[in-house]
Amino acid sequence: MKIQVITLFPEMFTGVLGNSMLWKAADRGIAEYSFINLRDYGLGPRKQVDDTPYGGGDGMLLKPEPLVAAIEFAKQNDPDARVILPTPRGELYKQSVAKELAASDKGLILICPRYEGYDERVTEWVDSQYRIGNYVLTGGELPAMIIIDSVVRLLPGVLGGETSADIESFQDDDESIEFPQYTRPADFRGRAVPEVLLNGHHAEIAKWRARSSDNVN
Ligand SMILES: C[S@@+](CC[C@H](N)C(=O)[O-])C[C@H]1O[C@@H](n2cnc3c(N)ncnc32)[C@H](O)[C@@H]1O
Repeated sequence: MKIQVITLFPEMFTGVLGNSMLWKAADRGIAEYSFINLRDYGLGPRKQVDDTPYGGGDGMLLKPEPLVAAIEFAKQNDPDARVILPTPRGELYKQSVAKELAASDKGLILICPRYEGYDERVTEWVDSQYRIGNYVLTGGELPAMIIIDSVVRLLPGVLGGETSADIESFQDDDESIEFPQYTRPADFRGRAVPEVLLNGHHAEIAKWRARSSDNVN
C-alpha cells in the first residue's frame, strides 16, 4: 500500500514509521511511505503556506493553493489514492474504518494541517475527514500516524501468524473490548491468574473469555 503524507514536519514520522511492525511492513514491501513537504509548495520567496482567517480570529490557516498543489502532486503518483484529512470536524475514526481502508487496494494520501487549521475549500479535494477523538491536537501528524498504524497492522503479512487481528478489541461493532490477558508468573505479589486459564480446558477458557469481554459503553 502506497502511503503519502503531506506535512510541514516529515521528521516527526521517523520514530513511528521506522520501528517495529510499521518498519517491518515497509521492509517487506507491504507498505511504502513517502513524504511531501508542504513548504515546497509555499508561495513566494518565503514559501508562505499560511495566512490570517477571513472574518478575523486567532491564529493562521493553511492556504488552499499549496495544499491543493501538494494533493495534486500526490495524486499524480497514485491517481486512485484516497485523500484523508484529519480534522476535529470529521467523523469519528474507528476500527471499522481502519479495516475498510486496509481491505481496499487503494493507497492513502494523508494531509497534516497545522496552526488553526486549513481553508475549508480544500475539502473539495478530500475523500474522507476523520477526527481521532474529542480533543484538540496541535497538528494532523499524530492523527495521521494513528491512521497509518491502525491500517498498516491489518495489511496481510504484517502481524504474522502469531497474532490475529480478528479477535482483538472493536471487531464487528467498534464497541467490544477484548478479555483481560495474563502471562507468567501465575502468582505476582499475591495476585493470582484466574484459575480457569491454568487448567488447559479450552472450552472453559473460551467461555470465561466470552464472559470477560466487555463493551465500551
Ligand atoms: C490546532 S488544530 C486546529 C483546531 C481547530 N481550530 C478547531 O478548533 O477545531 C490543527 C490541526 O490539527 C489536526 N487535529 C487536531 N485535533 C484533531 C483531532 N482530534 N482529530 C483529527 N485531527 C485533529 C487537524 O488537522 C487540525 O486542523
